Amino acid sequence: MDFLSTNTHLHITTWAVAVILFFIALGKPSKGVHMALRLFYVLILISGFLLFMKYNSVDPMMYGLKMLGGILTIGLMEMTLVRKKKGKGTSGVLIGAVILLLITIVLGFRLPIGF
Ligand code: HEM
Repeated sequence: MDFLSTNTHLHITTWAVAVILFFIALGKPSKGVHMALRLFYVLILISGFLLFMKYNSVDPMMYGLKMLGGILTIGLMEMTLVRKKKGKGTSGVLIGAVILLLITIVLGFRLPIGF
């Protein structure tokens, strides 16, 4: 599986697609889009975890925070869509998801591998 983590392209592709699917699902709730998004959560986790295993010794604390940020972002994205489906308020979880997404992206780009 080494070839999947020689660069960050796979990881970037998976989260970029997920963010697009998330906003599509938020705008127009759809079971199919939500299912596809859940598949991309798994792909983000696999690609992120492979990068983590390979590079985390470079800076264990920052890589640990990056992983935590990524996992929490996924959690809040999922909570936002589930709350929306149930007809509950989503502004709090949505703001949380967007803030964590931005923190995770900034943290990812600041870490030494990739761009
Ligand atoms: C929505 C969720 C996520 C977003 C938006 C995100 C975003 C990013 C970004 C922008 C980068 C930098 C890519 C580059 O510099 O070329 C990155 C790298 C990385 N991500 Fe994620 N990520 C997410 C989830 C995760 C998860 C769940 C994990 C761990 C299980 C993870 C682990 C990593 C690692 C280890 C790197 C390499 C860091 C480096 O550049 O040295 N990410 N991610």
